[in-house]
Amino acid sequence: MPNKKSLRLDRFLSNQLNISRNDAKELIKKRLVTVNGETAKLFDMKTDPLTDKVVSEGKEVLYRKHIYIMLNKPAGVVCATRDRLSETVLELIPEELRREGLFPAGRLDKDTVGFVFITDDGELAHDLLSPKKHVSKRYFAILEKPVTEGDIKAFAEGITIDGGEKCLPAELEPSEKPGEVFITLHEGKYHQIKRMAEAVGNRVVYLKRISIGGLMLDENLAEGQCRELTESERITISPSPI
Ligand code: URA
Repeated sequence: MPNKKSLRLDRFLSNQLNISRNDAKELIKKRLVTVNGETAKLFDMKTDPLTDKVVSEGKEVLYRKHIYIMLNKPAGVVCATRDRLSETVLELIPEELRREGLFPAGRLDKDTVGFVFITDDGELAHDLLSPKKHVSKRYFAILEKPVTEGDIKAFAEGITIDGGEKCLPAELEPSEKPGEVFITLHEGKYHQIKRMAEAVGNRVVYLKRISIGGLMLDENLAEGQCRELTESERITISPSPI
C-alpha cells in the first residue's frame, strides 16, 4: 500500500499511462492535468493514488498498483522478457497494458501453448512459483501412444524422471480419444511433462496449459491474445498463505 501523498505526479502519470517521464512532464507543463479539480503546476507534486482524482487530457487516470494479465501463448514464442532470436510473450502485450517491470510468472516451453500469467507484482509471482505452495497447473496433452492404468498409477505415486529427479504425485486423466490426456502438476520442473511422458515410454506431441491455480484459461482468447484478470480472477490465482 503506498504511503499517503507518496507519489510524484509525473511518476504517477508515467506509470499509469505507460508514457515516458518526459511526456508526463510535458502534459503537466501544458496544463493538461488536474488533481482534484485544480490544474497541476508542479511535476513533483505529491499525489495519493488511492484518493486523489487525477485527470489528464480530460480523462480520469485510474490507479492500478499492479497489472495481471492472462495470455494464450502461441507456439514459437518464448516466455522471457527479452530474447535475441525469438518473439517473447511481452511483445504480445498491447500498448495499453504494457508497463515497466512486467514479466511472465512461470515458463512454458517454446512449443507449448496456452495460459501464461504476466504481471509486475513480484510478490504474487513469487508465491505462485514457490515450491512450498504447490500451485496446481493443468495441461491438455496429446501423447504419441494411449496411456495405461500403470501410467496413471505411476503418475499418482510420483514419477522419477531422467537424472533421478523424483516428481510430486500428479494426476493423469485419459480423455475419450486415445492419447489425449489431462495432466495436473503441483510443481514446475524443466520440461516436466515431456520428461514424465518419456519416463513411461511415451512422447508428447502437443501440450497446452489450460489452468493455473484453479483459474481456467479464457476460451475466448485466441492464441496470441491476452486480457487483464478481473478482481475475482486475481483472487482465485493468488495462493493462500501457508
Ligand atoms: N511441461 C513441459 O514439458 N513443458 C511445458 O512447457 C510445461 C510443462
